[in-house]
Amino acid sequence: MNPVLDSLHEAQGELTTEIDDEQWLAQFDALADFGYVIIENFLPNHEAAALYNYAANLSEPDWNIAGIGREQQHTLNTRVRSDQIRWLHPEVPAEAIYLNTLNNLRVRLNRRLFMGLFDYECHLARYQPGAFYKKHLDAFKGRSNRVLTTVYYLNPEWRAEDGGELVIYGANDEILETVLPKQNTLVVFLSDTFVHEVKTAYRERFSITGWFRHNASNAHRVDPPV
Ligand code: OGA
Ligand code: MN
Repeated sequence: MNPVLDSLHEAQGELTTEIDDEQWLAQFDALADFGYVIIENFLPNHEAAALYNYAANLSEPDWNIAGIGREQQHTLNTRVRSDQIRWLHPEVPAEAIYLNTLNNLRVRLNRRLFMGLFDYECHLARYQPGAFYKKHLDAFKGRSNRVLTTVYYLNPEWRAEDGGELVIYGANDEILETVLPKQNTLVVFLSDTFVHEVKTAYRERFSITGWFRHNASNAHRVDPPV
């Protein structure tokens, strides 16, 4: 993926979600007020189902063990997270649909909330039974260009006993939300503000985690690296 190039192709076309314009305005206001929103029925049903089928039918070599941190700090630590990931690429048609929609959302967020979001990157994640992701922050203040995290869930018919909840914590370590990873639910939150974790999943669990980012490039350094 080439975020610099992608950003040149400003998102085109309509934001094809199940949420109408008025509902989007309410969601954006909630995001500005609380720092997070949980949006059910995000995509048209057939797109949600197609994404699940796509993820569930990928073969083993399509998945990588997920690391922690980026670039030099990148380490594999299966005590912290035990999911497997696959970065999405616009050249793959099944993946391009999701990337396009989220890029459209990026443009709308910028228009409404003046967030100056420069690009979007995301990966599929597969939690096999027993997998988890311990409490963490996706970005540290001043040390990352990740601004907003998105997590989108793919599994149909997820039940409470399947585990795998996303737990979002507040500033005093109190639980703000416990989200069941149900098909077609999108969670959006400020990356450097909300500690969160994925409880142990008891059934194969698929999500797409992504980040809207600022452009942190300067004369000496290109960041995001391309
Ligand atoms: C992540 C993450 C949450 C989820 O990948 O950083 O927190 O519910 N994922 O999959
Ligand atoms: Mn996270």
